Amino acid sequence: MKFVKKNENTKPYIDSIFTVVNAAKKDPDGINATAGCLYSEEGKLLTFNSVYSLEGKTTPTQKASYAQSPSGNKEYIEAISDFVLEDKVKNNHGAIATPGGTGAIYTAIKTCLDDNDTIIYPEISWGNYRVMADEFNLNTITYDVYDLNDLFNKIDSVDNKVFLIINSPCENPLGHSYTYDEWKQIIDKLNSLNKEVVLLCDIAYIDYANDDPKRFLELFNNISDDLLVLIAASASKAFSYYGQRLGALIAINNDSSFIDHYINLCSRLARSTWSNLNNSGMITIANTLLNNSEEYFKELNEAKAMLKERVNLFVEQADTCRLEYYRFNDGFFITLKMENNDFRDDFHKRLMDNHIYTIKVNKGIRIALCSTPLKVVDGLAKKVKDLM
Ligand SMILES: Cc1ncc(COP(=O)(O)O)c(C=O)c1O
Repeated sequence: MKFVKKNENTKPYIDSIFTVVNAAKKDPDGINATAGCLYSEEGKLLTFNSVYSLEGKTTPTQKASYAQSPSGNKEYIEAISDFVLEDKVKNNHGAIATPGGTGAIYTAIKTCLDDNDTIIYPEISWGNYRVMADEFNLNTITYDVYDLNDLFNKIDSVDNKVFLIINSPCENPLGHSYTYDEWKQIIDKLNSLNKEVVLLCDIAYIDYANDDPKRFLELFNNISDDLLVLIAASASKAFSYYGQRLGALIAINNDSSFIDHYINLCSRLARSTWSNLNNSGMITIANTLLNNSEEYFKELNEAKAMLKERVNLFVEQADTCRLEYYRFNDGFFITLKMENNDFRDDFHKRLMDNHIYTIKVNKGIRIALCSTPLKVVDGLAKKVKDLM
């Protein structure tokens, strides 16, 4: 096409999620199980008072100001790194602030991969990995998150640099999480490869996981010199900060001079892409973590408990009516198992025709329990099963 770059991606860009979300919003009788955001029991987007009471205190000048640097405000980077790593990582690390977890994943891909390099990610996963792979001309290999042998075979099938995305705990959309023992096997495998490996851990939903979800971070203290670990953190879910666009990319490697070099590379990318981030947002999150953490963690735990109650009810009722879903640990979503994507398309439409709005994913249909209050969850599994 005229004017634009030669290797333009000409496929029409249709955001399937936002299309269904908008249809759901227009249906007053509909069950909206589309949104990947946590809603309260009153059906409103849940916001943390501990965060937004401080947000209200940032001054117009702070809101209007540019941030300290393209890589973010020092206090925010320190606070978010401590929040994510919780003292578990003693190995060398550094971080930059990013626009959401998406910005962190973008930074990781842009700084580590060239055109035609390969990216490995879960077969049933967040659609944006695919969008980025297409956008950056990458080859893709997908793996089954339930089968470590499949993952290891896929890793072995890459000739040059391995770039692996793991979205655990609370994988979107499956809700799958690796156990500590599985993480150990993955790190042992990556440590044993005799080539460069970048492991990108997408931990967007980690704050809603149960059972010591951060223990696996300790494994990054014993990594091979050929392994670069990148952690993509998102403030969206953790602080209910979806539209404020904040996150962080944390890099871990045995060589401290490499970390300095890498963060410098990320800073240049940040300067040339978004240039600057939400200053008052960074001040607010740093402030929350430093001065309001007790109230924040209390609210976060309440939010977690609210979500767990919905999940438990859905699972109990789905089991009773034998509605099949993918094996699930924790998280915002449950995904109905549908190996055949043609059937999935028909069924997804049938649900919409019956005012139940969900999201299509590869081999399944995602039900966002995060956005459906308990009274709506009650009976939902049976309604879905009856339509099937
Ligand atoms: C798996 C996964 N990773 C990362 C993100 C990034 O979110 P954000 O850019 O809002 O931080 C999302 C958001 O939905 C997600 O589902």
